This record gives sequence, structure tokens and C-alpha cells, in this order.
Amino acid sequence: MRMDTKYLTIEDADLRKAAEIIRAGGLVAFPTETVYGLGGDAMSAQSSVKIYKAKGRPSDNPLIVHIAKVGDVLRVAESFPDNARKLADAIWPGPMTMVLPKRAEVPDETTGGLSTVALRCPANEVARRLIEYAGTPLAAPSANISGRPSPTRWEHVRSDLDGKIDAIIIGEPCIGGIESTVIDMTLPDSPQILRPGLITPARISEVLGIACGYDPALAEEADAQTAPKSPGTKYRHYTPRAEMMLYRGDSSKVREAILEDARALRAQGKRVGTIIYEDGREAAQNLFKDLRQMDEDGVDIILASALDNSEEINYSVMNRMLKAAGYVVKEA
Ligand code: TXA
Ligand code: MG
Repeated sequence: MRMDTKYLTIEDADLRKAAEIIRAGGLVAFPTETVYGLGGDAMSAQSSVKIYKAKGRPSDNPLIVHIAKVGDVLRVAESFPDNARKLADAIWPGPMTMVLPKRAEVPDETTGGLSTVALRCPANEVARRLIEYAGTPLAAPSANISGRPSPTRWEHVRSDLDGKIDAIIIGEPCIGGIESTVIDMTLPDSPQILRPGLITPARISEVLGIACGYDPALAEEADAQTAPKSPGTKYRHYTPRAEMMLYRGDSSKVREAILEDARALRAQGKRVGTIIYEDGREAAQNLFKDLRQMDEDGVDIILASALDNSEEINYSVMNRMLKAAGYVVKEA
């Protein structure tokens, strides 16, 4: 059934309307510093079911629960171990999600039947006002159709979810551009990164003074397997409609190879898009937007330069690029 999606501003009166929609069991897409989220009342099983339906997402894939302040952790989590508290104090509000044991009141529908819950306090001020006005934690996955690149602008949300959700908040483009770092804190003395993001393993280790588990090679492998710790990573993600191929190697050789292959493919009548980022942060900010733009432009094949290992953040972006490319990599 198509519904009439409302478009709301970030003015207080509109955010209060959005909060009212959420309290009444509806869904509202809102900006965060990472990507746009599709928010519903995290404590309502029905709202979470609606979220899966709108996204076309498998219901065993747990949702991230968003809170407005550190003080609200225990409304959702059963315990808040010291190390989790240290991370929250140092990094929240910000692009970090912690997995903790859940309270019984959090419905199974929100956590995909898991006994744990993923929690995040976003830095985006509009997001925090919305959560505060709603008076309830918000379950919010990325506001895209499942499998599509995450939305980093409200227009991306409109193109995926118009007619399927109650409202979309017209906020700023997201400054981070890739989803939050997800850290398993259920064993508080051995934090494990389940999804790499803008908060790096080095930052976690620095805050806690202990090693933080994350091995990019192993994470890539785990992604390809059927029963990874983080259920979301087993599905195809971030995929443009176009075919995509990554080029790895010396940067000048990569550039040459991309241009040469692009010429050859164009000669065959294909529409070719190329992606060459210089810097990990710029890449994070632009990747999903660029993938969506290329789909809109009717590109058949995307040739993209892999990022090197010079910065930790590059691993996080490469995690998304590899998935978008279905792990098709060419050595240049
Ligand atoms: O930046 C973000 O995190 C965005 C914005 C909207 O906050 N949200 C987001 O949510 O990316 P979503 O639902 O698209 O991704 C949730 C990720 C998935 O990889 C999921 O498997 C993992 O978090 N996750 C959620 N709950 C979990 C749990 N209890 N245990 C392990 N992983 C969990
Ligand atoms: Mg997502």
C-alpha cells in the first residue's frame, strides 16, 4: 500500500511532528552524521516489523537502537560494563555502535531475536532532538532499500522509500558518509569490531588501553561466510545496479589501467563510470553518493581504484567498496 510521505524540515515544530509520528507507531527517516536512518520506536515490536517491511530487509538482521544521551543506555541494555562506559564517555555522541546484553523490554523484533542489542548515541543534533522529543529510543537501520548503497542525502531516501514511510526529514548531507563502527562489548575486556567505520581500532585501543580485535583480512573472510557474528554482514550490501570492479596496486598503474579499460569498454558501447579517490575521508563522504549517481546516469560498469593501507580509515571504506564490487578485484 502506498502512503503519502510527509517531508519535514529540521525546525523544532516539524521535529515535534516527527516525534509524534514515531510515538504513534510510524516511521520517520532522519539525518545522522554517518548515513540517514529509518527510525521507529525501538520498544515497539510492530514498529520494528514495519521497518523490515519498508526496507525489504530480512527480519533476522538486528537493528541499531539510537539514544539521545549516555544516561539512557540502561533503558535498553541490561548492563553497562566499565569499558563500555569509557568508550561511551570518550566517543559518544558519535559514529560508534556498541553491542551489549539487552533488557527484556526490548522486543525480539528489534534485535532479530538476539539476546544482545546494538546501541548508538548519534552526534547529529537533529537526530538527538528527534530522539529526545520522541521520548523513546529509536530503532534505525540505514534508510535505504535493503542491498542498495546507504543514503547520505535526503534525496537518496526519497528515491528509495517515498510512499513507503510516514515522513522524511530534510536535513543536511551526512558528513561521515559510511555507517558507524560496530563493536561487540559483550566481553568487555576483549572488544571486537564487527563492522569497521570512522572510529578506528587504534582509537578504541587508545581509550581502553587494551588491544581491540579487528583484522581486515579476517573480516572480509567472515563477510563471505554464512554465520558471521554480525548478522547484517551476510547479505549483499551497498550494491549499485551497475557492475563494479576494483583495481589494486601502485596508484599510477591503477590509474592507467582504469583509463585504458574504460576506453576499451566504451569502444564496445558500454557506459563506464570511474572512481578514483585520493583520501579515505573524502572517499567515505562520497562513495555511496557516487554509486547512486552512477546508477542514475545509467552506467553499466564502474571501474574504481582501491584505497591503499596508509590510513586505518581506508580499511573501513574498502570494506564497503569490496562489497559493492562483489569482491571483484583486478591487480594492476
Ligand atoms: O551509522 C549507522 O550505524 C546507521 C545510522 C542510521 O545510525 N545505522 C545502520 O544500521 O547502519 P543498520 O541496521 O543498517 O546496520 C546495523 C548493523 C548490522 O551490520 C547488524 O548486523 C549490526 O549492526 N548489529 C545490530 N545489532 C547487533 C547485535 N545485537 N549483534 C551484532 N551485530 C548487530
Ligand atoms: Mg544498512
